[in-house]
Amino acid sequence: MVDTETFVPDAVAEIDEEIDDANAVIALSGGVDSSVAAALAYEAIGDRLTPVYVDTGLMRKGETDQIRETFDYMDSLRIVDAKDRFLEALGGTTDPEAKREIIGEQFIREFEREAKDADADYLVQGTIYPDRIESEGGIKSHHNVGGLPEVVDFEGIVEPVRDLYKDEVREVARHLGLDELVAERMPFPGPGLAVRIIGEITEEKLEVAREANHVVEEELEEYEPWQALAAVIGKATGVKGDNRVHGWVVSVRSVESRDGMTARAQEIDWDTLQRIQSRITGAHENVARVVYDVTHKPPATIEYE
Ligand code: XMP
Repeated sequence: MVDTETFVPDAVAEIDEEIDDANAVIALSGGVDSSVAAALAYEAIGDRLTPVYVDTGLMRKGETDQIRETFDYMDSLRIVDAKDRFLEALGGTTDPEAKREIIGEQFIREFEREAKDADADYLVQGTIYPDRIESEGGIKSHHNVGGLPEVVDFEGIVEPVRDLYKDEVREVARHLGLDELVAERMPFPGPGLAVRIIGEITEEKLEVAREANHVVEEELEEYEPWQALAAVIGKATGVKGDNRVHGWVVSVRSVESRDGMTARAQEIDWDTLQRIQSRITGAHENVARVVYDVTHKPPATIEYE
């Protein structure tokens, strides 16, 4: 386990030395990794760090507000409302990798503009140890901000949590006094709800996915899952009131894992599952059914795309 008492001052000193008196930029994702990296870098260089949060419209419920609150103490924080641009760029795209690529490219475009505007020479990233292993093994085609270093011509990349596992990053977050919600927040993929919506991304599917993910996170908190999520996986027939509807099928998934490379589906009690079902079908008139995914990783992945 990481010794936070020594890790924090060492990391801050290292960042300070690396960046010296230049400017830096970091993409905040809302997750614990980039939050910790940002807090460390801000401690090292203050407002010469520009933290950029791009609201893609694919984020969890309340995420943007939470970012605003947590990082309110950083005067240089920038929140970019890019929802419409992401939805437009995605258009009717259905292929999972094409969707990831569009999101990645749009993200780079948004971020590049902010980085140039901030006159940043350095890029700070919240890369953690398992990310490096997965990308070296070619498992993940697009990590959060993969591609950024190649596109924007930075003088250097600073990765203060590169040797830590997720649970260690959480410990550092708590040590730094980062909001408990951020410290405990489940990992959330860079492409956001897009990997929890099979096929075309529409405002309606996003609405269903956002509310369903909120319900699942809330209801399954006590199971302390590595990730608990909900995905819109297709359409099926249901009955709402007196009418048959062809509505959305929402799949609920809750897994245990240390680093996301393998995972076990969790056993959830029936009453909790029924409560989740009832809240999700009740939240949106076009949800016809809710299913629970019992598949481990492997053979399934954690996300749906
Ligand atoms: P999978 O679905 O591959 O997920 O079993 C393993 C872990 O990685 C996250 N994940 C992603 N994270 N960009 C990310 O930043 C992605 O494209 C992506 N796909 C999956 C997933 O949430 C899980 O923690």
